[in-house]
Amino acid sequence: MRQAPGHLLPRLMVLAGLLLLLAAPALAAGEAQGPGPRRSILLVAFGTSLPEAGSAIDALKLQAEAAFPGVPVRLAYSSMIIRKKIAGEGIMKRSPAQALADLAAEGFTEVVVQSLQIIPGREYSDIKATAEAFQAMPKGIAHITVGRPLLSSPEDIARAAEAILGALPGHGKGEAVLLMGHGTAHPANAAYAALQLALWKSDQSVFVATVEGSPALIDVLPALKRQGTRKVFLVPLMSVAGEHAHHDMAGKQGDSWVSRLQAAGIQSEPVFKGLGSRPVVAELWIDHLRDAMKELGR
Ligand code: CO
Repeated sequence: MRQAPGHLLPRLMVLAGLLLLLAAPALAAGEAQGPGPRRSILLVAFGTSLPEAGSAIDALKLQAEAAFPGVPVRLAYSSMIIRKKIAGEGIMKRSPAQALADLAAEGFTEVVVQSLQIIPGREYSDIKATAEAFQAMPKGIAHITVGRPLLSSPEDIARAAEAILGALPGHGKGEAVLLMGHGTAHPANAAYAALQLALWKSDQSVFVATVEGSPALIDVLPALKRQGTRKVFLVPLMSVAGEHAHHDMAGKQGDSWVSRLQAAGIQSEPVFKGLGSRPVVAELWIDHLRDAMKELGR
């Protein structure tokens, strides 16, 4: 019987410890914000309907949270088609405008919006226009800055090329890597060609082609053949390995890249891992977020 209090006390201490642990994150977030301006981060991805690619976007959010402790991070999907599609499966995602409206209503006065796009194309200009509209709204968010996509300047492109080369699968003689970008009719599509030149400075067997823009697969096939390429690693030049990676890149249909390469006598191995899941590359988006955060202070 004498043992009883001795058993009870440790249990109570464990319980108190658990309660403190549960309370700690709330306390930390409250302290970091304090009085005065209230700051938050909004990450904007195009979005994806594939659960594993969705998890990769969520992982990017965790990375942003770790880089800016105490600053709440929200996530929005810019594609309405994707949002509608996954809503049918019970997954609700905010649009950039909805997420900004939430933040304004919750009293956030400073928001850094970070684009998770690869090039500063249509999606990015839409995000910027949305941010500007919110900035102009009375009693809205006082300051909004927008962080640039991965390939936005010559310096960005040089850094991205280095980071991508460091993250690619090893490839020997007769092997090459083909990065699959989205591509667009927007002038920012030129960033893909600039990235190609930057990659070739270090490795002549790494190629860039796009699904919907230029260069296209047909533009790189002659060079692949000229180099005597027998095998190609196919790597998405996108934040996540979503629908384009699974369908246009690796699909079983005749017009997928795997099929077209095979028809050209080149074996291929798709790599289902987006750039966002490669920490050295993901860190570049975080750096752009850091730059946009500094802009807020000005
Ligand atoms: Co697309």
